[in-house]
Amino acid sequence: MAGGIVVDAEYMKEIERARRDLRAFISSKNCAPIMLRLAWHDAGTYDVQTKTGGPNGSIRNQKELMHGANNGLKIAVDLCEQVKAKHPKITYADLYQLAGVVAVEVTGGPTIDFVPGRKDSSESPEEGRLPDAKQGASHLREVFYRMGLSDKDIVALSGGHTLGRAHPERSGFEGPWTNEPLKFDNSYFVELLKGDSEGLLKLPTDKVLVEDPEFRKYVELYAQDEEAFFRDYAASHKKLSELGFTPPSSSSCFKSTIDNSKVLAQSAFGVAVAAAVVIFGYIYEINRRK
Ligand code: HEM
Repeated sequence: MAGGIVVDAEYMKEIERARRDLRAFISSKNCAPIMLRLAWHDAGTYDVQTKTGGPNGSIRNQKELMHGANNGLKIAVDLCEQVKAKHPKITYADLYQLAGVVAVEVTGGPTIDFVPGRKDSSESPEEGRLPDAKQGASHLREVFYRMGLSDKDIVALSGGHTLGRAHPERSGFEGPWTNEPLKFDNSYFVELLKGDSEGLLKLPTDKVLVEDPEFRKYVELYAQDEEAFFRDYAASHKKLSELGFTPPSSSSCFKSTIDNSKVLAQSAFGVAVAAAVVIFGYIYEINRRK
C-alpha cells in the first residue's frame, strides 16, 4: 500500500467532522471495544516482506470478513457504514483506523496521533495472518515480527484487551479481561499478574505474556506505571495503524510551507527596513556635523 490519496484541506476538514461524529456514535452505542478490534484486524494482516495486507479497508470484503479470526466483526463494519454515509469522501481504511483511535480516546485511553491518507484495497490477504489465541509465545512473535513489530509492541498492544470481552459464539472464549471493560486503563496488566484466581478471561496468548521473561518485563512495568503503558501503547498503536502506509504530502503541509516563507519574507523585509533606518540616520548625522 505505497503512497496514499490526496489529503487536501477539504479532506482534513472531513476527517475532523468524522472524528466528532465517531466520538458521539461510539459513546452512545458503547461499541468502543469492537471498533478497536476492527481497526486492529484490518491492520494486523500486514506482511512487511511482501508489503501486502495492512490498514487498507480490505476487511470490509465479504471474503475477509468470513475469515475465522474476524467472526463478529461484520457488526463493526456495518456500524461504520453509518458514519461512511455521512462522510463518503473518507476512505474505509482511514475510517476504520480513525474509529480505533477514537475508541481508545473516548474510553479514557491515551491520545493517538492520527495521520490520514490511507488508500482502500479490494484485495484481501489469505486467511491465517492474524494471531491464534490458542498458541504460544513463538507464534505471537512470528505473527507480529511479520508485521515488522517488536516484543514491546506485542505487550503494549495486548493491553487493548483492557476493553471488551470474548463472545462464545464468535471465538469460543467467554467474558471480559477486566472488571471495567469500557474503561481504557492498565488493569489488563494488573489482572494478568494476579493469575487465574479472579475469574476474568485470560487467553493462552495473554498468559504467555507473564511466562516469557522478555514479555514479562513490560507486563510488570505497565501494571505499576500506567503512564508508561499509555505512552508505549500510543506509539505502538500509531505504528500498527500505519503499517505499510507512507503519509502523502498533503496540501496542508504545502500551505504551511507557504505560510513559513511568507513569515520569512516579512521578517527579511523588517530587517531591511530597520537597516535602512540606521543607515539613513547615520548619513543624516554625518551631514549634520559637516
Ligand atoms: C496478541 C494477539 C491477540 C489475540 C490472540 C487476540 C484474540 C482475541 C480474541 C479471541 C477475542 C475475543 C473475540 C470475541 O469473541 O468477540 C479478542 C477480542 C478483542 N481484542 Fe484481541 N487479540 C489479540 C490482540 C489484540 C490487539 C493487539 C488489540 C488492540 C490493540 C485487541 C483488541 C481486542 C478487543 C478490543 C477485543 C474485544 C472485542 C469486543 O468486545 O467485541 N486484541 N481478541
